[in-house]
Amino acid sequence: MDSLIGLVNRIQRACTVLGDYGGDAALPTLWEALPSIAVVGGQSSGKSSVLESIVGRDFLPRGSGIVTRRPLVLQLHKTEYGIQEHAEFLHLPRKRFTDFSKVRDEIEEETNRLTGKSKQISPVPIHLSIHSPNVVNLTLIDLPGLTKVAVEGQPESIVQEIENMIYSYIEKPNCLILAITPANQDIATSDAIKVARQVDPTGERTFGVLTKLDLMDKGTNALDVLEGKSYRLQIPWVGVVNRSQADINRNIDMIAARQRESEFFATSPDYSHLASKMGSQYLASLLSKHLESVIRARIPGIASLITRSIDELEAELLHLGRPVAVDTGAQLYTVLELCRAFERVFKEHLDGGRAGGDR
Ligand code: GDP
Ligand code: NA
Ligand code: MG
Repeated sequence: MDSLIGLVNRIQRACTVLGDYGGDAALPTLWEALPSIAVVGGQSSGKSSVLESIVGRDFLPRGSGIVTRRPLVLQLHKTEYGIQEHAEFLHLPRKRFTDFSKVRDEIEEETNRLTGKSKQISPVPIHLSIHSPNVVNLTLIDLPGLTKVAVEGQPESIVQEIENMIYSYIEKPNCLILAITPANQDIATSDAIKVARQVDPTGERTFGVLTKLDLMDKGTNALDVLEGKSYRLQIPWVGVVNRSQADINRNIDMIAARQRESEFFATSPDYSHLASKMGSQYLASLLSKHLESVIRARIPGIASLITRSIDELEAELLHLGRPVAVDTGAQLYTVLELCRAFERVFKEHLDGGRAGGDR
C-alpha cells in the first residue's frame, strides 16, 4: 500500500495541475484540508540550510536578498535502495534530474518565469519531488523569508505581501509550522516565533528549530530555549548545526556536515544530554511521524471532501460535455480518477486503522 504521505502528495499535485483551471469545484477546499509542513523564518535564519540537511542534498538557490520568491512544495519520497536518487518537477513531467545543481538552476528559472527578474514574489507554488533511499516520506513547503525592508527594485508592499503569503499557509489548522530561529539572535525577536504564535498560540503544531548553535558567543548556550524555558512548545525544540558559508564555499558535502553535526552534539558539554533529540536527521524523522499522524487523524475529513470533489467533478464534466475544452476535460477526468482511487485507499487505511488499532 502507498504511504499515507505519498497519497496526500499525489492529491496535492493533482490540485496544482488543476490550479490554472480556476473552476469552483471542491478542489481548493481539498487542497486546504491536506496536511502539510510550512517552513517559516527571517531572512538568513537558515531555512534553506535546514531543508537541504533534511534532504541530504545541495539543491536550493542561494544568495542574499529574497531568494525564495515562490512557494516551493518539496515532496520527499523514500525509495528502495538501488534506485538512483533523482528529482522531478511537476511543470516538467518526464524529465528526471540526477544532477542536483541543475535542480537549483531550474528552481531559479521557474521562479523568474512568473516573477520576471523584477524580484517580485508570486503565490503560485513550484512542485518538486525528490526520490531517494536516504529521505523519509515528507512534504515541506519553503516560503519566502520574513523581511523588514524592501531592497532596491522591490515595491514597499513586498514586506506585507510576504507576511500575507506565509499566513495563508500557516493559518490552516492542518499546517505544521517549522519555525526557524537562529541561536545567535534573541529569541524574543524571532520572526518565526512571532508569526507562529499568532496562529498557534498554544504551540501545538509549531516545531521550533534553533539553527547556528555553533555561532553563539563563547560562554553562552541555548539551553533555556532548547529546554522550553524561553518559549514553550508542546513538542520540544530541536537544535541543528548547518554548514557555514565558509563550509559551503569550500564544498563541504552534506554527509560530512551531518557527521560533524552529530559530533557537535555528542561532544558538547552543554548539549550532550540532549544529543539523541538534536540534529537534522532527528528533525526529519520527528516531522515525518507527526505528519503521518496528522494525516491519519484527518482521514475521515479528507475522505468526505474527496467524495464531494468527485460529485462536483462529475457535474463539471457533464456540464462541459465531450467536445469542448478537451484539455480541461482530460485534466478533470484524470483528477476524478485519482480521487476515486484515493477514496478506495483511504477507506482501506481507515478500516485497517479501526481493525488493527493504532499501528
Ligand atoms: P535562509 O535565508 O533562511 O534560507 O538561510 P540560509 O540557509 O541560506 O543560511 C544563511 C547563511 O547562514 C548561510 O551562509 C549559511 O551557510 C549560514 N548558516 C545557516 N545555518 C547555519 C548554522 O547552523 N551554522 C553556521 N555556522 N552557519 C549557518
Ligand atoms: Na527568525
Ligand atoms: Mg533561503
